[in-house]
Amino acid sequence: MTEKISHEEIQKVIKSVPLLSPSANQLLQATTDPDHDQGDIVQIVKLDATLTARVLKIVNSAAIGLINEITSLERAISYLGERLVVGIAVGDCAAQLFDKELKGYEGEHGDLWRHDLRTAIASREIATLSNLKINPDLAFTAGLLHDIGKSLISDYLQGTASEVLSKIENEEYGDYLTAEEELIGIDHPRAGYELALAWKLPEAITEAIRFHHTPAEAREDLRELVYAVHLGDNIAMLGGCGTGADSMHYKLDPNYSQYIELKSEELARVMLTVDVEFNKLERSFSAAGDSNQ
Ligand SMILES: [Fe+2]
Ligand SMILES: [Fe+2]
Repeated sequence: MTEKISHEEIQKVIKSVPLLSPSANQLLQATTDPDHDQGDIVQIVKLDATLTARVLKIVNSAAIGLINEITSLERAISYLGERLVVGIAVGDCAAQLFDKELKGYEGEHGDLWRHDLRTAIASREIATLSNLKINPDLAFTAGLLHDIGKSLISDYLQGTASEVLSKIENEEYGDYLTAEEELIGIDHPRAGYELALAWKLPEAITEAIRFHHTPAEAREDLRELVYAVHLGDNIAMLGGCGTGADSMHYKLDPNYSQYIELKSEELARVMLTVDVEFNKLERSFSAAGDSNQ
């Protein structure tokens, strides 16, 4: 028997989650600034000794396979790329959320992290290939965080998956979002949005989290980004990498083509890149002893 989560309850859950580190927050802010450059990223990482050590450990891990060790932070960041550095910073702070076994969705340990990483890569590729005005690194970060709300509400949904699926089949529920809302009074995009507010995430990322299943409702000036994440999420699920029982039980907004012009062969290319990049990134993270694996 599920119970509705009150506003106070969700705030309590959010308070129990660690805040992002100042450096992770600054990196996220920098990503949304179109005028930033790599020097800004280096400056932020430099001031965080733990993050500096992690970046150097990852760049020198066996998975990256460099012949000569990299000891300079500048070179490490330029080798890994900004998006991966932001991913490391956010992933480390929010490991508890990314790592969570999503029992309410009957997901397995690691499913959320894998799904988020695939969505991030797909969103970035979409932003790059479709000549959108959005920064591909920003699309990556928004993709990485889009489903963070699932970690917050998953426990409240325990034992509901089979009932939800049969009600979706009977068309009693339009999709998984309706089920979340009906059962516990809040869906995962809104739970994620509440967390984004508490974390003071940049508006663009907050908007992508909030509207990743309903991109037409996003703010006009951020809609391209939100559509990129919406499509990236669907590509990750189509590739067989969802977060459990809910996978593919969301609606794809057919109007995405108004915002994102991609030919079918380009979409196929995105899917291929997601596979290749995902394997590379996952190896780097696990080789560095990351807890997200
Ligand atoms: Fe979602
Ligand atoms: Fe998702």
